[in-house]
Amino acid sequence: MRVLSPSFSISALGPARVSAPNMPDLARRLVLCALLGSVYASCPPRCECSEAALTVKCVSRDLRSVPAGIPGYTRNLFITGNQIGRVGPESFKGLDNVTNLSLSNNRISEVESNTFAGLRALRSLDLSNNQLAVIHPEAFTVHNQSLRELNLSRALYNHSSVTDLATSLRWSSLGSLKGLDLSHNGLIFLPSRIFSHLGSLRRLQLSNNSLVAIHNSSFSGLGRLEELDLTLNALKTVPEEGLRELDSVPGADLLLGENPFTCSCGIEPFALWLNRSQGRIGDADGLACAFPAGMRNTSVLAVGSLTLGCRQWGAGADLALQTSYVFLGIVLGFVGLVFLFVLYLNRKGIKKRINEMREASRELWDGYHYRFEVDSDPRLSQVSSSADV
Ligand SMILES: *[C@@H]1O[C@H](CO)[C@@H](O)[C@H](O)[C@H]1NC(C)=O
Ligand SMILES: *[C@@H]1O[C@H](CO)[C@@H](O)[C@H](O)[C@H]1NC(C)=O
Ligand SMILES: *[C@@H]1O[C@H](CO)[C@@H](O)[C@H](O)[C@H]1NC(C)=O
Ligand SMILES: *[C@@H]1O[C@H](CO)[C@@H](O)[C@H](O)[C@H]1NC(C)=O
Ligand SMILES: *[C@@H]1O[C@H](CO)[C@@H](O)[C@H](O)[C@H]1NC(C)=O
Ligand SMILES: *[C@@H]1O[C@H](CO)[C@@H](O)[C@H](O)[C@H]1NC(C)=O
Ligand SMILES: *[C@@H]1O[C@H](CO)[C@@H](O)[C@H](O)[C@H]1NC(C)=O
Ligand SMILES: *[C@@H]1O[C@H](CO)[C@@H](O)[C@H](O)[C@H]1NC(C)=O
Ligand SMILES: *[C@@H]1O[C@H](CO)[C@@H](O)[C@H](O)[C@H]1NC(C)=O
Repeated sequence: MRVLSPSFSISALGPARVSAPNMPDLARRLVLCALLGSVYASCPPRCECSEAALTVKCVSRDLRSVPAGIPGYTRNLFITGNQIGRVGPESFKGLDNVTNLSLSNNRISEVESNTFAGLRALRSLDLSNNQLAVIHPEAFTVHNQSLRELNLSRALYNHSSVTDLATSLRWSSLGSLKGLDLSHNGLIFLPSRIFSHLGSLRRLQLSNNSLVAIHNSSFSGLGRLEELDLTLNALKTVPEEGLRELDSVPGADLLLGENPFTCSCGIEPFALWLNRSQGRIGDADGLACAFPAGMRNTSVLAVGSLTLGCRQWGAGADLALQTSYVFLGIVLGFVGLVFLFVLYLNRKGIKKRINEMREASRELWDGYHYRFEVDSDPRLSQVSSSADV
């Protein structure tokens, strides 16, 4: 018997065509299945089952849903490279022994609450390379909190899914999770306290997102973190708030490479912090300025050594500006004084000039008065207008 039963029984049935069989037919099939099952363990169509390896693989077979009839002995279940669009609690029934489940490279857009709850031995769940748009609050709940590894690399449809994700990371009882991969997801920010219920987390991958800042409560609750990968993000610097946050996970080794660090004076506290924390930053030596152009490829650590110059330059510029304002004030005041003095010296001349002006304006007034009276004579104006025509 053992010799006869191949360790890999490849189902040749092709897609299951269930065309409403009549009762005797169904009964015959069930008997056949039971008989076969006692000799060879059954295997769903388009899958490969290895009882010896406790492994079932349904790889790149154009499956639209999780196939039924996966044998109960299965520990490692790979349903990858298919067209599965949705998974729910009915997808994984009676699979008490599955410890590793990979659903990577599908088109999963929706994960319902308690989809994996029945997989009580589940330790590793791989949902990488999917298009998760709707993640229900208890999507990742596994009874007995057995889940250790969750791979959501390149798994979110777009950045908006992060809100759902934050909720389900809080609600899914992931207190035993050790590793979470959120790389390649286009995340722009991390919702406040998104990881706060992952108290056992050791490894967190956030590389190749678009994170621009680290906020106060980005990493709260991650007291036992050992590895944090922030490479390939959009960090231009890490200001005091972010540095405090990184200091709140003191046991974590950090990776910060391939960020567009901008080496102007604002980067000073970050550079100092880098030098202080070199021991736990795996790639501290490799961190390079991306901007300004003149500083490209300069080590951020080396910028730290120029910091005093930076601060003095800043303070000096301020001082120079203040000095120039004071100087301008003094000059203007002096000019004003000179002007008043000149007026004083010329007071007689000015008086004479004013009298002359008064005379002149009186003459002007008389002339104007005369002309006005002449102009306002209606007869004269009539004459002038008829002369014009
Ligand atoms: C799980 O595996 C154990 C033995 O390892 C077996 O006794 C049990 O029946 C399996 N569970 C199912 C649902 O087949
Ligand atoms: C199952 O997952 C664990 C991590 O939890 C991993 O170490 C192991 O290699 C995986 N086994 C298989 C067959 O993929
Ligand atoms: C729950 O998990 C523990 C180990 O984490 C295991 O010993 C126990 O059998 C599990 N219980 C069930 C019901 O699976
Ligand atoms: C997650 O999945 C991706 C692609 O499937 C893989 O490259 C990566 O190594 C996985 N992450 C972890 C932590 O295993
Ligand atoms: C993400 O996709 C959803 C559904 O298509 C859409 O409503 C939303 O605007 C998208 N968000 C972003 C940031 O593109
Ligand atoms: C980063 O992610 C994008 C998709 O979000 C992908 O196109 C690109 O190849 C990734 N870069 C690296 C270095 O993995
Ligand atoms: C961050 O925390 C500090 C005090 O710890 C506080 O002064 C600051 O306003 C907080 N910033 C934000 C954005 O909440
Ligand atoms: C920066 O360094 C990389 C290799 O480390 C090199 O290819 C590139 O030409 C350098 N750029 C400048 C502007 O020096
Ligand atoms: C880094 O810190 C050390 C002391 O730990 C100091 O001697 C060194 O000058 C600092 N380097 C820079 C670039 O600030």
